[in-house]
Amino acid sequence: MEYFRQLILKTLLPLVDLELKPNDLETPPDRTRGDLAFPCFRLSKSLGKAPPLIAKELAEKIGASLEPSGIHAEAAGPYLNFRFKAPALIEHVLLPILASSTRYGSQPAASRESWVFEYSSPNVAKPFQIYHLRTTIVGATLARIARHRGYQVTTINHLGDWGTQYGKLAIALKRYASELPAELTLKHLVDIYVRIHKDMETDPTIEKAGQDAFRKLEAGDAEMRKIWKMCVDISLKEFQKTYERYQVTFDHFWGESHYEDQLKPLLTRLKKEGILVEDQGAQVVHVTSRDGKEIPPCILEKSDGASIYATRDVAAALYRFEHFKFDRMSYIVGKEQKLHFEQVFGTLRAMKLEWEPRCEHIATGLYRFKDAKMSTRKGNYITLEEVNDLCMAKSLEVMRSRNASEETREEAKLTDSEIQTIAEQVAVGALVFADLSTDPSRDLEFDVDRVISFEGETGPYLQYAHTRCLSILRKAGDAAVRAKSAPLSSLVSQLKTPEETSLLGTLARFSEALDRTLDQRKPSQLAGYLLDLTKDFGHFYRECKVMNAGSADLTTARLALVEATRTVLGLGLDLLGMPKPEKM
Ligand code: ARG
Repeated sequence: MEYFRQLILKTLLPLVDLELKPNDLETPPDRTRGDLAFPCFRLSKSLGKAPPLIAKELAEKIGASLEPSGIHAEAAGPYLNFRFKAPALIEHVLLPILASSTRYGSQPAASRESWVFEYSSPNVAKPFQIYHLRTTIVGATLARIARHRGYQVTTINHLGDWGTQYGKLAIALKRYASELPAELTLKHLVDIYVRIHKDMETDPTIEKAGQDAFRKLEAGDAEMRKIWKMCVDISLKEFQKTYERYQVTFDHFWGESHYEDQLKPLLTRLKKEGILVEDQGAQVVHVTSRDGKEIPPCILEKSDGASIYATRDVAAALYRFEHFKFDRMSYIVGKEQKLHFEQVFGTLRAMKLEWEPRCEHIATGLYRFKDAKMSTRKGNYITLEEVNDLCMAKSLEVMRSRNASEETREEAKLTDSEIQTIAEQVAVGALVFADLSTDPSRDLEFDVDRVISFEGETGPYLQYAHTRCLSILRKAGDAAVRAKSAPLSSLVSQLKTPEETSLLGTLARFSEALDRTLDQRKPSQLAGYLLDLTKDFGHFYRECKVMNAGSADLTTARLALVEATRTVLGLGLDLLGMPKPEKM
C-alpha cells in the first residue's frame, strides 16, 4: 500500500497547493468505491470551486498518468477515488509477500523508537485472574506487532511480589504448617491466604504480626526472605504454564521486589526536592491529573513506614527510563487502576521529569459472562483456569460433533488424540480472539457458545480458513511449491476475476492494519482486518476453482494467491498469539 500511496501523492502534489501526507489519502469505508480516496474539501477554499468539480478535474488531469502504473482514478462526488488493478497488485503486493514470507510487513529491527511494554503482572500467591489474561494478551500482541514494525521493544512483567500481604502469608505458613504438605502449590498458598483473612476477623493480633513480618522482610531478614522467595517460585511456576499456553513471553520478570533497594533513596530524593510531605501520618506527594485536575495525593510511605504499591511504581519508572531511555512506555492494566496511574504519573511530573508524557496507561475493560454459573459473580474474581476449562469443554464438544458429521469433514476422520490437541488449540484461539477482537477499553461480553463457534466473527473461523489454505497447498504438492516462484507475467495473465482482485486488495492493507493497531493501541484493528481477509478468501474460494481451474497456469496462479493468503493470515494469527492447527 505504501507503494501506491507514494505514487499517488507524487502525481497529485504538483496539482494541489497543499502539503500532502500519506494519511491524507483515506481508506473508503465502502471498498467497492475504491482502494484509496482523496477528499477534495480541503482544496475548495483555495481553488474557489466546489469539491465535486475539483474531483472531476483532478481525475481528468492525473488519470492518464496513473493508468500505466495500474491505478485507476475516478471522481465520485467530492472524492477522488483510486482503484488498483490486478497487475499492479500482483507486482507490488503478491510477489513481495511470496518473497518475504513471515517477514512480510516487517521493518528492520530497532529502526523505530524505543517502546517499553508492561503487561500481565499477576500477583504472587494469588490465582491468575481472567482480567490478567486481558492485559497479558493485549500487551503481548501490541509488543509483538511493534517489534515486527521495527520498534525497539522491551517487555516487562511487573509481578505483584512485594507488599504487606507477604507478611501475612508468612504468618499463615507458620500457623497452618502442621496441616500443609512438604511440596506446596499455588493452590495451597491461595487457600491459606484466604484462611488467614478469615482468622483475622476473630484474632486482631494477626494484622500486627503480619505488618511486623513484612517490616522484617523489608529489612532483609534472612528467614523472611526464604519464605518470600519460596512463594514467588511456586507462583511463577504456575504462571509459566499460562504463558506457554498463550505463547506469551517477557524480556524481564521485574516484579515489584526488583525495585526494593531503590525505595528509600527515592523517598530521600523526594524529601530533598521538597515534594514529599506528611499527611495524616503518611508521606505523600500532592499531584494533579494530566489535565490539571486536583486528585487525591499519591501515598508513598504508610504511617508504619512500609512502602506501598505506588512507591514501587515510581521507582520502577525511574529505573526503566534509566535503562532504556524509552520514547514510550505503555502500562497495559485494568481500567480500575486509572487513578493509581494518574497519581504515579503526577508524581513523575511533580519531580519535573521531562519524559513523563511518554508514559501511558492503556486501560482494559472487564470480562462479563453470559454463562449462568459465572454471571452471578463479579467479573474480576473469576480465575483464568475456570474460563480455560469452560472453553476446553465446549471446544471438545464442537470438535467431536464436527468429526462425527459427514458434511463438515472433507478429509479423513481425526483420531481421539488429534481431537484433544486441536480442541486445545481452538479453545485458546477462540478465547484470545474473543478478547482481542473487542476494543480493549470496552468490557467483553463472553458467551462461550458464540466464541467457540466455527461460524461468525470468531477465532475458530479464522483458524479454519488458515487450515483450509494449508490443506489446499498440501494437496497440490509440487504445484504449490512451483507457485511460490511463479513469474510475474504468468500471474498477471491469469489472475483477473473480481474475487481475486479484491483478495489482492485486502492483502495490500496488512501493514496499514498493523500500524493502525499500534497508533490506536487496539489489537481489535488487526483482528478486524483478519476477518476481512478471511471473508475475501471465502469469496475467492467459493467462486474460483483452484485445482480444477481449467489450466495448469491458472492453477499455479491461484495457488500463489492461496500461499500469499496463508502467509498473511498465518502471520496475523502469530501476531495475535493464536495457535494455527494443521487440521481442524
Ligand atoms: N499486580 C497488579 C494487579 O494484579 C497489576 C500491576 C500493574 N502494573 C503496575 N505497574 N502497577 O492488579
